[in-house]
Amino acid sequence: MLNRNKLNKGGFLITFEGIDGSGKSTQIKKLQNLFKKKKIKNIYFTREPGGSEFGNKVRKLLLNDSNINFTNESQILLLLASRFEHYNRFILPIIKENGIVISDRFQDSTYAYQCGNNKKLYDILKYLNYSLFRNFEPKLTILLDINPKLAVQRINKRNKKNLFDKKTLSFYKTVRKNYLKLAREKKRIKVFDASLNKDLLFDNINKIITKEIDKR
Ligand code: TYD
Repeated sequence: MLNRNKLNKGGFLITFEGIDGSGKSTQIKKLQNLFKKKKIKNIYFTREPGGSEFGNKVRKLLLNDSNINFTNESQILLLLASRFEHYNRFILPIIKENGIVISDRFQDSTYAYQCGNNKKLYDILKYLNYSLFRNFEPKLTILLDINPKLAVQRINKRNKKNLFDKKTLSFYKTVRKNYLKLAREKKRIKVFDASLNKDLLFDNINKIITKEIDKR
């Protein structure tokens, strides 16, 4: 059971990660509805790219403008600029006021999507991450893991697709591999089987988030 008295003791960030088609949005929506139903305050939902006015512009630029072909380096710079705004103007002030922020994607997406298996890109990201955010990390990351074949089938059923949704199966295989590698290195990342029935999956996710909140 979520202990309401503990909702104002120390803020933190929880993130959701996973390849496109892993069902993040559905799970986050369920969490939002549950918190609303329980009238739980002091929990704020956000997403990346986005989360600030500038971030929303970057989102449009990266996801909708099919005429521009950005290098991975430029994508990293744009995403980090947007993250820096999001972090300083939204995430940090809430955490300082002991609130909880739940973000649909954060720093792990940039590693998994933009770096591929390229050490040079990873070094750039690592250096910039440290320069901008020091050692800041989410307290807990829910990684929705799914076979890319199944994910692509799900994406193809959607009406609205973004630029990343048009990537190939091999691209998503690399992204998934990067996520799983990160999960082996970082204890905060908890891997969930996203091919499970969505209600069962939600029960599992809800348990771990409630535990994290109650730990405070
Ligand atoms: P998402 O919000 O999951 O897409 P949707 O609009 O379908 O819910 O994510 C948008 C896309 O942005 C997704 O394909 C992954 C990509 N992305 C990156 O490549 N790197 C990043 O650092 C972030 C935050 C997102």
